[in-house]
Amino acid sequence: RTRERSIRSLMRERLPQDRLEILEEAGRLAESMSYQIYAVGGFVRDILLRRENLDVDLVVEGDGIAFARALARKLGGRVRAHKKFRTAVIVYTPPGEGENGKPLEEQKVDVATARLEYYEYPAALPTVELSSIKMDLFRRDFTVNALAVQLNPNDFGRLVDFFGAQRDIKERVIRVLHSLSFVEDPTRILRAIRFEQRFHFRIGKQTTRLIKNAIQLKLIDRLSGARLFNELKLMLREKDFLLDLLRMEEFDVLKAIYPAFAITQREETLLREIEKVLNWYALLYEPTAPRQWLLGLMGLTERFSDEDARGVATRLAMPPKDRREFLYLRKQCMAVLEQLNTWKYEDGSRSGLYFILEPLALEGILFIMARTRDEDLRKHISLHLTKLTHEELEITGEDLIAMGLEPGPHFSQILRAVLAAKLDGHAPTLLAELGYAERLVRQMRRGEAGALRNK
Ligand code: CTP
Repeated sequence: RTRERSIRSLMRERLPQDRLEILEEAGRLAESMSYQIYAVGGFVRDILLRRENLDVDLVVEGDGIAFARALARKLGGRVRAHKKFRTAVIVYTPPGEGENGKPLEEQKVDVATARLEYYEYPAALPTVELSSIKMDLFRRDFTVNALAVQLNPNDFGRLVDFFGAQRDIKERVIRVLHSLSFVEDPTRILRAIRFEQRFHFRIGKQTTRLIKNAIQLKLIDRLSGARLFNELKLMLREKDFLLDLLRMEEFDVLKAIYPAFAITQREETLLREIEKVLNWYALLYEPTAPRQWLLGLMGLTERFSDEDARGVATRLAMPPKDRREFLYLRKQCMAVLEQLNTWKYEDGSRSGLYFILEPLALEGILFIMARTRDEDLRKHISLHLTKLTHEELEITGEDLIAMGLEPGPHFSQILRAVLAAKLDGHAPTLLAELGYAERLVRQMRRGEAGALRNK
């Protein structure tokens, strides 16, 4: 049962002009090819929820790949087509420029083909054209994600809601479309929780029952590591991922993923600190964003044995690089925390801390910050991240050569010693750096082998 409603004006109000123009362009183009075309899924949901979402998903009743090629020509973009699935991705750079004259970021539009035979439906159905968008929506995860909005010029903005999505958005509930949804795709268990927490919705009663059933049937065991890892990463990228994890614990999903996973008071406290540190770091607007999933996983596995840490990496089929990094970072962090146990601020401890933290990836440093209870240490780590990591010497190896020194491994030793002096405030100017370096070079010449040892 469809209730006719147009969200044309809401779209005009909510979407950036260039997005709107692309949708209109897509509508005109589809019309000229005699196709029906719709924007679908999370994009439509987020218009109704008044949340920003720039990932456009289009569904075409017709030849999706041919349509994508034609639209890409109009947008001056490229197409990656997947013939087998009759889908395509258009990648294009919008015209105009962003701040400081840089070209705008590349954008993506996903195009899918809605076709009946795809769903193994009886072949001779009379209303193929009308039903195919409905079938496309029916195979989706939740009612709130099963909305479409038509883009053809005469119907632009017509909302297509076969499954009561508008009602569920109003009632703020996550509901599956049919009782086999979690059997069809168990990652939807994690997705249900993710959307519930993100939108402050509630998973519906029947859907809750189906999730519990799916867990009891051990459907999570059937999921490949790669899909599970992907879904877990998406979850850990959410702003309040701790809420997701607590909900996972409530449903016994965490245990189902890996038996040693549990959110006790200890994990909860640590993960809350990790969230705080991440929020703090985000406000610095540093160019590199930390991998939130890595920090989340560090928090979840903090009290794990090495064996269990390896077990998790294996269950999640982590790609070798991720696996190595995760396991290595854990070891490094344990060692650094041990080293910092007796840390207290005194002269020279700035550079001392700098060299202790230097080998750690950003996620490791943030983890240490979240993990320590020493407020003083935390302040110094924050200074390290905001200021000291940006410190650079003004002198270079050239200056050492000018002092008559032969290049060699002692170069970096001297430069590090000068850097230490600078970090500790003993070489605040270029002149002081030079002076400091000269003194070290002289000492070295005099064969004072110990001169550099402590630096
Ligand atoms: N979908 C689904 N089942 C899945 C994954 C996706 O039914 N296991 C459908 C949903 O209709 C979803 C759409 O595919 O809206 C696009 O998937 P995705 O980009 O993962 O979801 P979004 O809803 O856009 O979520 P997000 O806001 O997190 O990007």
